[in-house]
Amino acid sequence: MTTIQMSVRPEDLSQVPTGQERIPEAGILVIFGASGDLTKRKLLPALFHLRQADLLPKQFSIVGVARRPLGDEFREDMRAGIVEFSGAKADDPKLDDFAQHISYFPLKFDDPADYAGLKTELERIDKERGIGGKRLFYLATAPEFFAGIVENLGAQGMAQPEKGQAAVVIEKPFGHDLESARDLNRKVNAVFHEEQVFRIDHYLGKETVQNLLVFRFANGIFEPIWNRNYIDHVQITAAETLGVEGRGPFYEKAGALRDVVQNHMMELLSLVALEPPSSFEAESVRREKLKVWRAIPSVPITNAVRGQYGPGLIDGQHVAGYRDEERVDPESGTETYAALRLEIENWRWAGVPFYLRAGKRLKKRATEISIQFKQPPLLIFDRIAATAACQVIQPNLLTIRIQPDEGISLRFGAKVPTTPNMDVCPVNMDFDYEKAFGKSSANGYERLLLDAMLGDQTLFSHRDGVETTWALYTPILEAWAAKKPEVFPNYFAGSWGPECSDHLLEKDGKSWRNDLGRKA
Ligand code: BG6
Repeated sequence: MTTIQMSVRPEDLSQVPTGQERIPEAGILVIFGASGDLTKRKLLPALFHLRQADLLPKQFSIVGVARRPLGDEFREDMRAGIVEFSGAKADDPKLDDFAQHISYFPLKFDDPADYAGLKTELERIDKERGIGGKRLFYLATAPEFFAGIVENLGAQGMAQPEKGQAAVVIEKPFGHDLESARDLNRKVNAVFHEEQVFRIDHYLGKETVQNLLVFRFANGIFEPIWNRNYIDHVQITAAETLGVEGRGPFYEKAGALRDVVQNHMMELLSLVALEPPSSFEAESVRREKLKVWRAIPSVPITNAVRGQYGPGLIDGQHVAGYRDEERVDPESGTETYAALRLEIENWRWAGVPFYLRAGKRLKKRATEISIQFKQPPLLIFDRIAATAACQVIQPNLLTIRIQPDEGISLRFGAKVPTTPNMDVCPVNMDFDYEKAFGKSSANGYERLLLDAMLGDQTLFSHRDGVETTWALYTPILEAWAAKKPEVFPNYFAGSWGPECSDHLLEKDGKSWRNDLGRKA
């Protein structure tokens, strides 16, 4: 397939804003579960990027909290993480200065006395640095500790302080089904008002995900055709080549539906399907997302399929099957792949199927949304170019590459030059993020951390949204739990997933797009 590159002119690039002007007020960021991977790989590098861009307030402090009895080595470990994962130079003077803002406080998550100690320590830092009482608590622990931490913060008066403000960021997974999500919401909202709660989904920090709204609503030409009259169907794929990477015990309880579909994929789906919000403000955007999720009728169990990888080849290397992974039940019934056919019953989307699939150890790493348009009403050209790898003229396809090779491409048919016939060949118009804007070292948490510090909830999940998506998936999870699949493992590592997933689309006369990624 031929590709036409879309480039950005240098004069356009000078118009590209280099950062946000909003700087949060002085505050202390308290990270619970700070000895885990997330803090070192993502949170601290993102905070350092914010510091480099002068987007952090001068009076700012980061306090890592975890069970281990660590001291200054925590600061050194975080420093090493910043160098390793943020692209910073070890001798960057800004890094020295930044490291001075990091400290550690050991705490047992279920010990009220430790929280009293934490409160005193935060007051000490606050006074020393002239902060003024503002706190952002970030829960990056295992999910079973979320409720207890929130309750202990409440009991110490740290959630509703007399002076300053407090807010809480809660990592995923937020519950493991509808009942547990409701229960956690009740416990969290008993301590923090909803305006103080930031349920994080790191997908929303990705530039390409935020760009979905810009693409749809900052351009006039797509919206008129963004509906059932022109769109045949939508496919959303989140394919990973990685396995469970040592997270066996977590994944055994989660599985693909809970881990990725209920949250990341539902966010993507809502951004593709929502009605134009009246503004880019939390209330407007979150209301429109909720309307989409509420318009999805319950999914017949025959429209949900699951898979588990066996051994296979990834990039030419042999990899073990899921059941042979570390700390995984050798008879495990956990799905490492899930695919679904959903509908959205509203005026815009009635009758347009949305197919979702997510899986580990697939052939290629690619998160993509493809919008397949309907064929023209009359095909007056029916000759396919000898070079085209298709049997029929292909309909227009808009592909939004969330990662990697971030970009957008539009496939259309073009006349093959120099032949005497009207031979049609599919070509792509391609926009490539990196070519247009340069390579970014941001990891997505920059934006989310900054927004949480600023109190902007637009890119965070609301209580109602979380419960609505769990309500949709809980019956499927229950049905799957009740019947262990006899056919597991049912796909090879390095393949495109189980056959039952192909059948899901074949029933509708369609097939998965497996030529994911940027076309050279
Ligand atoms: C996480 C899941 O939320 O998202 C992981 O727990 C998954 O299992 C990851 O690998 C995918 O995120 P990303 O940003 O690497 O695509």
